[in-house]
Amino acid sequence: MKNYQTPRGTQDVLPEESYRWQQVETAMRQLCRLYGYDEIRTPIFEDTDVFKRENDSSDMVNKEMYTFSMGEGDSLTLRPEGTAGVIRSFVQHKMYGRSELPVKLWYKGEMFRHERPQKGRYRQFNQFGIENIGLKSPLIDAEVIALGYQLVKNFGLSQIKVLINTLGDAASRSAYRAVLKEHFKDAVEELCPDCKRRYQQNPLRLLDCKVDRDHWSMQHVPSLQDSLTEASKTYFKEVLAALDALKIPYEVDEKLVRGLDYYTDTVFEVVSTHPESGSQSAVFAGGRYDGLVEYFGGPEMSGVGFALGMERLILLAEAEGIILDKKPDCDVYVMALGEVGEVPLELATRCRKAGWITECNLVPRSLKAQFKSVDRRKAKAVVIAGENEIQNHQITIKHILTQRQVTVDLTQLEETLAAMLKEEGE
Ligand code: HAM
Repeated sequence: MKNYQTPRGTQDVLPEESYRWQQVETAMRQLCRLYGYDEIRTPIFEDTDVFKRENDSSDMVNKEMYTFSMGEGDSLTLRPEGTAGVIRSFVQHKMYGRSELPVKLWYKGEMFRHERPQKGRYRQFNQFGIENIGLKSPLIDAEVIALGYQLVKNFGLSQIKVLINTLGDAASRSAYRAVLKEHFKDAVEELCPDCKRRYQQNPLRLLDCKVDRDHWSMQHVPSLQDSLTEASKTYFKEVLAALDALKIPYEVDEKLVRGLDYYTDTVFEVVSTHPESGSQSAVFAGGRYDGLVEYFGGPEMSGVGFALGMERLILLAEAEGIILDKKPDCDVYVMALGEVGEVPLELATRCRKAGWITECNLVPRSLKAQFKSVDRRKAKAVVIAGENEIQNHQITIKHILTQRQVTVDLTQLEETLAAMLKEEGE
């Protein structure tokens, strides 16, 4: 018989793990509320062109997309990231026409990349992301980084570092591309096939290569800084000054170019320095994109954002020993003794209406077995619906820690429990 398993690079979030996921999601929602971001939900698949833009040189677009067709002449792709779909939607719904700019959006959900799976890197993974679209200011870049930074800090991560760089404006980048083409011209034939493609499509991407890291041509690469226009230099300085003002520590990493093609000016990556984070250390990453809104047919408008890997946040929190949410203990356990019919269910329903987490014994079981469940669910109080008592319209309520026990009229269930649940055990 076939041994059914999750596909490679995917994972089940098991019931006991779901609480920490909800914790992350709640923290994200609360923070986005404070910063005035609204949620957007876009489809999990889009027309392939949304992601595969003309002459795109990124690995994600060229090698990692799950693309399929349903035979209707269409080509669809499971989203490998959130930004492109959000900008497609921004343009489609003419959000740029809103009186209040920037438009501030957040999203979360599954992304799909056909990568080689390893710890912290999956084929289906979850991102939380924000996009701030419509205005351009170094202060906005800093505010976007601040939101992500606050999120990971609120979570208790301490071993993190903000790496930041600028790719400059269009003029800076085109000057730098020419410099790189010249620099790599004698080396390109010796580089890996991906680098050969990158050399043609976008020489900036060469700096990302993991295969040829030690090749002689990679040793003394001319710096992008020397190709930056004055405007780009000033812009970047102002981003850094804003981070200083917000007391967000950072390191300028001149080699940081990021794996996606749409970035301009500020790019950043927030990485974990914890030894267990290994090679998949980026917790969240993003940057500014000047041309994307226009590419999708909108006006000339800039945007900036980041995406955070939710699996990575959870893994790193665990590695740092942070205690994450787990299933809450139960407040009340309703036990049934003898022929009491639907009474336990009625009592449990009343408890739930009162707002207590309640478990109830609904199948015939021994007293011993029921007490085991009470133990396992760490119930604070037990309601015992016994046959004789029910005949007298009564129930017994017991506080587990204090062992205090009372028998009361059925109508007094809520008030007795309310008082009892306030009691602290010794
Ligand atoms: P990205 O760097 O490709 O950027 O991904 C952002 C984050 O998603 C990474 O830092 C990492 O935490 C997580 N991540 C990426 N790939 C995987 C994977 N295979 N398994 C687990 N986690 C992963 C973007 O996606 C851009 N859309 C970010 C952005 C938003 N830029 C501007 N706005």
